[in-house]
Amino acid sequence: MKNVLIIGSTGQIGSELTMKLRRMLPEGTIVAGYIPGAEPKGELLESGPSAVVDVTNGAQIAETVEKYKIDTIYNLAALLSAVAERKPLMAWNIQMNGLINILEIAREKGCAVFTPSSIGSFGPETPHQNTPQDTIQRPRSMYGVTKVATELLSDYYHNKYGVDTRSVRFPGLISHITLPGGGTTDYAVEIFYAAVKGEEFVCPIAAGTYMDMMYMPDALQAAVDIMQADPTRLVHRNSFNIAAMSFEPETLRAAIAKRIPSFRMRYEVDPVRQAIADSWPDKMDDSCARAEWGWKPTFGLDEMVDDMILNLRKKLL
Ligand code: SER
Repeated sequence: MKNVLIIGSTGQIGSELTMKLRRMLPEGTIVAGYIPGAEPKGELLESGPSAVVDVTNGAQIAETVEKYKIDTIYNLAALLSAVAERKPLMAWNIQMNGLINILEIAREKGCAVFTPSSIGSFGPETPHQNTPQDTIQRPRSMYGVTKVATELLSDYYHNKYGVDTRSVRFPGLISHITLPGGGTTDYAVEIFYAAVKGEEFVCPIAAGTYMDMMYMPDALQAAVDIMQADPTRLVHRNSFNIAAMSFEPETLRAAIAKRIPSFRMRYEVDPVRQAIADSWPDKMDDSCARAEWGWKPTFGLDEMVDDMILNLRKKLL
């Protein structure tokens, strides 16, 4: 990995991954791909090249790959689960037509490709406790349908054409830098903004709903480590379960209230997001990722909550 294109570089993951790779690979070229209306700003803009790369425009991708001699593509363009339910055709177009554009270019130019999958690739029939690496994947949401298809198509391009595709199934991702947009797990980020600002939080997910979550530094490390793993050790490719913590809204409320005693939360459950959350695992088994490429998270619930509050106080107050 030397010259990298990040598609979706201004999004929740992309904005931090681009900066991490630029620090990590000073000899390489890390190109921040974006769509008009979501331009990079500040440090992201100034620290390296950027280019308009709409995932649905194959010519744009090819041109940028050619110009910068790209060897690795991080494909982070996606509509998250709740938005994808409102705009299913747009989600299909970005997630599937976008992916096949990238895979075709990767096949021609010999690029490695990372396209994240998610806890959203599972469905109601999946075992919810210690969800195995290889298990039933029958999601009912459009987001989930595109994520399962992403896993299959990525494996197909590896098996048929030898394209170096690899990925992980991300849990809900929590960070203090860029907000997620329209996911089912977003509550676990928004709750911190309310708590630090001294506002009441209205939680759209019901008490008792467990989901896997992860702090962004661990997610970024996973995205890097999987692409640098020794390929001879990989039994799986698309995609690996990775887990760090599993909690429900009350657990998070209590952890925040321990640090901000005046914090208050009430529930106004959103039926769309609740149905999606109910169909997802409570807790994934990530033993294959641990065994095949050494996955190991560093942030548990308490470390994550401390760091979120510390950083959001600096940002918001
Ligand atoms: N965080 C995503 C969502 O909630 C799941 O991968 O849609």
